[in-house]
Amino acid sequence: MPSQFYYLSILEKNLRYKKYVIDKKLCYFKPHATKIEKSFSEEVIFGLGLKKKMIQPKFFYDIRGSDLFDKICALSEYYLARTEIEILNNIREELTMILDSEYRLVELGSGSATKTRIILDVLDKIQSKIEYFPIDISDILAESSEILLDSYSNLHITGIIDTYEDGLQFIEEYDDKKNLILFLGSSLGNFAETDTMHFLKQINKTMKRSDLFLIGLDLVKDKKILDKAYDDSQGITSQFNLNVLQRINDGLGGNFDLNKFEHRAFYNQELQRIEMYLKSKSEQIVHISKTNTDVKFNKNELIHTEYSHKYTIPQIKQMMNQCNFKINNMWFDSNQYYCVLLASKF
Ligand SMILES: C[S@@+](CC[C@H](N)C(=O)[O-])C[C@H]1O[C@@H](n2cnc3c(N)ncnc32)[C@H](O)[C@@H]1O
Repeated sequence: MPSQFYYLSILEKNLRYKKYVIDKKLCYFKPHATKIEKSFSEEVIFGLGLKKKMIQPKFFYDIRGSDLFDKICALSEYYLARTEIEILNNIREELTMILDSEYRLVELGSGSATKTRIILDVLDKIQSKIEYFPIDISDILAESSEILLDSYSNLHITGIIDTYEDGLQFIEEYDDKKNLILFLGSSLGNFAETDTMHFLKQINKTMKRSDLFLIGLDLVKDKKILDKAYDDSQGITSQFNLNVLQRINDGLGGNFDLNKFEHRAFYNQELQRIEMYLKSKSEQIVHISKTNTDVKFNKNELIHTEYSHKYTIPQIKQMMNQCNFKINNMWFDSNQYYCVLLASKF
């Protein structure tokens, strides 16, 4: 018989989320519109009010941002996506041996769920019913879930359109099934250093002993390769970066003139990270009407929009160890540009 906690947790979920049932194989949960709008406006205004201005990278991903990210993944300079796909393709057989019929797939930052298909193919071989719980802040989750259902007749999807942290909490409260948690695209590298450890610990705390964690991480490499990957010759990364200002214009009534800002991205060797900024080309004042805020920019002033940390193999081992993970397998591509690792809870 379900416990009192079970009923309380359902009640709390109803307060936090609106449930959308598309059909018997697809439903998703999304926080109420007021929560989404409130956190977007509060976090943007807070970040633009700081001495060193910043906008959180999670705000890149409206539908247009997610589409631009997919275009970035197809660029020849952006080795990350094709390298991760190469590794995942190479380990299909091994994963078939490691996984079993009980694992449910939970994916953090599923995006257009392209790489997910490799894991779904593996599960398809060993499961008669595949359960998939994508978590993504972007509405692209709803679109990509419908597309996936066309390819897998035995797939059942419960999506959570929310932040990684709240999505994980949702899963933790949902039930006790065995999870394979997937975190691809080296998205962990987007966290600031202190937040990285905090988030890895949250994932670890969410996991049961039988759960597995499959994560892709980008490795330290030549600065020239890294600089090109985040400042491509076709200017798609620049459009992706500038789109966050358009999103503020659309969602918060901002009057950012995108021509008055430019994309800056470079690899900081000492701190082992790509740093991405939007640079104000002139002195200017931007008005954000929904919050009645004026934001003043000096010429050449930067808005920080993203980090993408790169790791050495010893650093990865140490980080995982400190967050109570046991590394079961580490796989690399032939250039050692990228690493996919499988871990469980100590
Ligand atoms: C770098 S993309 C990776 C997409 C996909 N996993 C891949 O490897 O190609 C990051 C994805 O995570 C989502 N995302 C970014 N920050 C997030 C956050 N804080 N909470 C939930 N989703 C987030 C974005 O919407 C996007 O789809």
